[in-house]
Amino acid sequence: MSEGAPAAERRWPEVVPSLLERCSFPPPGHPLTCAVSGGPDSLALLALAVAAGCRVTAIHVDHGLRPGSAAEAEVVAAAARRFGARFERRQVAVAPGPNLEARARAARRSVLPADVATGHTMDDQAETVLCNLLRGAGLDGLGAMAPGPRHPLLELRRHETEALCAALGLEPVRDPSNLDPRHLRNRVRHELLPLCSELARRDVVPVLARQAGLLREEAQVLDQLARAEVPDPSDARALAAAPLALARRAVRRWLVPDQAPERHPPSSAAVARVLEVAAGRRVATEIEGGRQVRRSRGHLAVAEPSDKVRPVRTERVASSVPSWAQHEVGEPVVTAEALAERVIELGAAITADYAQAPPLLVGVLKGAMIFMGDLIRAIDLPVDVDFMAVSSYGSATRTSGVVRIVKDLDADLAGRHVLVVEDIIDSGLTLNYLRRYLQARGPESLEVCALLVKEGEQRVPLDLRYVGFRIPSAFVVGYGLDVDERYRNLASVHRYRPSLAEP
Ligand code: IMP
Ligand code: MG
Repeated sequence: MSEGAPAAERRWPEVVPSLLERCSFPPPGHPLTCAVSGGPDSLALLALAVAAGCRVTAIHVDHGLRPGSAAEAEVVAAAARRFGARFERRQVAVAPGPNLEARARAARRSVLPADVATGHTMDDQAETVLCNLLRGAGLDGLGAMAPGPRHPLLELRRHETEALCAALGLEPVRDPSNLDPRHLRNRVRHELLPLCSELARRDVVPVLARQAGLLREEAQVLDQLARAEVPDPSDARALAAAPLALARRAVRRWLVPDQAPERHPPSSAAVARVLEVAAGRRVATEIEGGRQVRRSRGHLAVAEPSDKVRPVRTERVASSVPSWAQHEVGEPVVTAEALAERVIELGAAITADYAQAPPLLVGVLKGAMIFMGDLIRAIDLPVDVDFMAVSSYGSATRTSGVVRIVKDLDADLAGRHVLVVEDIIDSGLTLNYLRRYLQARGPESLEVCALLVKEGEQRVPLDLRYVGFRIPSAFVVGYGLDVDERYRNLASVHRYRPSLAEP
């Protein structure tokens, strides 16, 4: 504790005991880390946690997104000093751009402990229920947040946290992005919830919060049933025999185990595909994060995305390099057979993911031409195809970082679901440039399918929806990839070995 810190607050406003009765703080004396942005809810969380007798640490995350974010940290630091709580400040870097809210949340989570307490109120709970409903969530999403030490204020209303701050003489930070109608939550808060209350002729916030509580209880019962019915969710036969509602829960529990809650939950389409694998109607399927679920001898197994290419036996290799290429081309890194098999899987995953809205595939010439040709025939949807050509290399085998558009697209991207088809990602600079360029044309969605990714070479985050193979970092040719325009017509992807030319 820093010396000279003022003694903890002795006299609390009169409402505090009645507020605390509805809070779910851990017992007095327990440590509690609180995320405190400086808004009214989180300042109330800080004050009430101290009043509840917890040993409180307030963490403020500075996203560096707004001018004056340092002053916001100071508001929290001052409140923590006044209440005798510890204060920590964490800095994260979030670049402006699309999907800001979600990226800021992810950055925040990465620097906060998993059991951090937040100041969500009953009003936030009701908003969460409606947001999740609109996003198509199932039972678990509609159950929203569970009360407990991580959400101690869920039984309080927002006007109560505001009133408490006023009674304490605290001046909360006002986050202007809470008014931005581009965020779904803000429109739910300011438009949808008031409309619902008006139509229902009563305040619907407690109604929605109560329903969430009931749904959480029912979800728990279903979980118990699912555990009893399918104790081992990798057991394909048990999954296929279980009632669908329980089988789905078993698959979710398997793919997002309790020990890894940070994993993205699988979409309902992915869960349905896994169940098709369990039932033997498919051999394998792609799920979130590039992972793959396959079935073998009655058991399902998940393969992580770094589907490292298995070493190829040398005696098979020699015969698979045509004689005219043998002086410069080494062993296959990915064989023609592996390419064919993987392209079929990628096509199946794309078919499933885009079934409702067939994509516009944008191939990057010239390297992606063969991949594109094979991939579109593996997609069972009415897709559109366009190409653009960029040059990032000249004839060197190292990335220059300079990208030039040699041929632009013919298609209009506005409102389209665009899937970029790339041959190989090395530094990621080309893709990053392309992504910004295409995003500016207003597609409805923009995803990337890359056949090959060189491991450990990327200087920028990639965010690839589909990846064919992750390969060791070495220059490769074949299956569309060239060096000085040669070797594109090799059926496999090979290591390029100019040294082989030397005697
Ligand atoms: P990046 O910008 O470094 O990711 O480079 C990507 C582009 O460079 C790809 O689209 C290819 O055209 C080319 N490239 C990168 N590595 C290789 C390789 O090993 N063989 C052939 N072309 C490559
Ligand atoms: Mg290329």
